[in-house]
This record gives sequence, structure tokens and C-alpha cells, in this order.
Amino acid sequence: MIHITSPVFLREPAAIQYGIPAVFPQPERPLHLEIGCGTGDFVVELAQRSPEINFLAIDIFNKGCSKTCNKTTAAGLENIRVMRTEARYLLTRLLPAESLDAIYVNCPDPWPKKRHRYRRLVNRDFFPLLQHALIPGGEFFFVTDFGDYAEQVAELLPTLNEFDNQLDSPYATDFPDYPVSKYMKRFLDLGQNLHYIHLQKKLDALPGDPPAPTSSRGFRINWEEREAAKSP
Ligand SMILES: C[S@@+](CC[C@H](N)C(=O)[O-])C[C@H]1O[C@@H](n2cnc3c(N)ncnc32)[C@H](O)[C@@H]1O
Repeated sequence: MIHITSPVFLREPAAIQYGIPAVFPQPERPLHLEIGCGTGDFVVELAQRSPEINFLAIDIFNKGCSKTCNKTTAAGLENIRVMRTEARYLLTRLLPAESLDAIYVNCPDPWPKKRHRYRRLVNRDFFPLLQHALIPGGEFFFVTDFGDYAEQVAELLPTLNEFDNQLDSPYATDFPDYPVSKYMKRFLDLGQNLHYIHLQKKLDALPGDPPAPTSSRGFRINWEEREAAKSP
């Protein structure tokens, strides 16, 4: 396993001790989150475009975290921190309510088999977590190469009372100003369509009280083991 020593890398004990906004040189800035940053191309481009925003990039795999740390350092950026953590765990356990201005999920694992669909990250159960973590007016961006995943999320839109769709249609296939991640580039190079969804949390929406995630919902980390390890 890669041992990450980069100062850009944020370990969970430090996140808990100091609180996530406080680990940035300018903690008062807005905070954006990229879930599943992979090799970091997307977050590095976005952070270059928006130096006035802090970006937290997370991935459950060390390799992606390490690459994202290296790209951040190579680009000389001070507004990115990278954490190895699981999205639902971060959103419910590590981040205060209403602490994020935007959340990005690009090309998440599509789980194409019908019997595995429940493992998809962006599903009905995910939206209460977004509602909890986003500030009122905070934005959610989702891109998938997989048409069936886009349809599944699009079908949920009319039921999401706390969010407004920012597009004229459930999803768009043309979204020119959005930075391109490694996977997005791969699919574009193959001539495939990407599907883009952009929602905004309503200004009068409350944070709600999302249920703690459970391991039965396709978590890739062993939730019980992790909790047990923390107990004295
Ligand atoms: C298909 S890759 C896409 C990577 C990148 N977003 C891109 O577009 O190039 C999906 C990434 O999400 C990460 N991932 C999957 N489930 C996750 C979760 N529950 N929490 C955090 N990261 C997750 C994977 O480790 C992987 O790096």
C-alpha cells in the first residue's frame, strides 16, 4: 500500500481534532467537496479556476489520494486537501451540517448489473445526506457516462422536494464549462455521451437529520469493524 506523506493529505484524526474547514490556510472560504476524486484532474483544474474556494477531494482508495496530492503539489495549489474516506461516512460523521457550498460526483462506479444497482452511491438514500451537508443554496453536480444511472437519478428528481433542478431538462449531454475528469475524458474520447445533472438545495430547506449509514447499502469499508476499532 502507498504511504502518503504529502502535507496536502488530511488524516481522519486531524479532521476530527481541528474540524475540516480549519485545516485550510484560509478556513473562512467556501468549501466544495469532490467525491471519488480518482487521479485528481478534475479538482486540480477547478481549484486553479477558483483560488477563492477551498476544495476537499476524497477517495476510498489510497492510489487516487496519492495521485491527487501529487497533482495538487505540482500545481502549487494551497486550496485543496485530500482525504481517504468513504463519502457517506464523511457526510454524516466528519462534516458539520450545512458546511459545503458544492458537491461534485463524476463518473461514479456504475454498477451496471441490475442486481447491483442498490450499490450505486447516488440513490434515494443519498439525497438526505446531501441536504444535511450542503448550505441552503448549495449545489450538487453529478456526471455519469452510464445512461441507466442518469435515468435512475432523473426519475428521483420530482420527489426531491428540498432541491431545485438547475437545468431545463432532467439532465444535459452538453455542459461545456465543466472541467473534464480522467474518466470523463476517456468516455468523450470514445465518442460516448456524458450525462450531467445540476441541482441546488432550496434556500428554505432545513438540514434534516439523515440516518447513520449502514453497511448493508454497498459500503466498501467495513463499517462495524471501523466503529469497533474506535471504541476504547
Ligand atoms: C470510476 S472512478 C471515477 C474517478 C474520477 N471521478 C473520474 O471521473 O475520473 C470512481 C472513483 O470513486 C471512488 N469511490 C467509489 N465509491 C466511493 C465512496 N463511497 N466514497 C469515496 N470514493 C468512492 C473510487 O475509488 C474511484 O476512484
